[in-house]
Amino acid sequence: MSKYFSVLGGVLLVLASACGSNNNKQAESGSQASAPASGEDIYKRACASCHMGSGDGIANVYPPLAQSDYLANREKTIHQVIKGSSGPMTVNGKEYNNTMPPQQLSDDEVAAVLTYVYTNMGNTGTAVTPAEVKAVREKP
Ligand code: HEC
Repeated sequence: MSKYFSVLGGVLLVLASACGSNNNKQAESGSQASAPASGEDIYKRACASCHMGSGDGIANVYPPLAQSDYLANREKTIHQVIKGSSGPMTVNGKEYNNTMPPQQLSDDEVAAVLTYVYTNMGNTGTAVTPAEVKAVREKP
């Protein structure tokens, strides 16, 4: 009789520990809040206040990112985000003369936010890589 109990005890122990490991897995997958911010998140936080959520900008004040001809030059576009600019600029045939502050973003973040811009807002570009951003940042 006591033998049966110890076998049963062993089975219960295995079941209990199997449940325990399931719970751990759930806790792990639930802790993705610390995952890196998406390009869209960065855009909303760092760019949308001026360029608008749609990327349309504001006439005569903030140039558009939506279907902007400026994006054709990827190096200039990356440079714009890292260094900002001040002074006259022509975008889609319209003059702007304002200031964009340099954006304090890592290479990964610049790549993510520009990938979002290049592949949304009616733009048809391709993803920007952190290596591309690094190359522009390191250029003298
Ligand atoms: C404080 C307002 C402001 C913020 C924030 C801002 N920009 Fe700009 N951006 C501007 C202005 C103003 C210009 C034009 C600057 C000039 O006249 O020299 C510009 C120009 C640009 C251009 C080149 C012209 C065009 O429209 O294609 C790009 C690309 C750009 N910004 C991308 C971004 C991205 C990406 C972010 C977020 C990471 C961002 N900007 C955040 C104000 C801002």
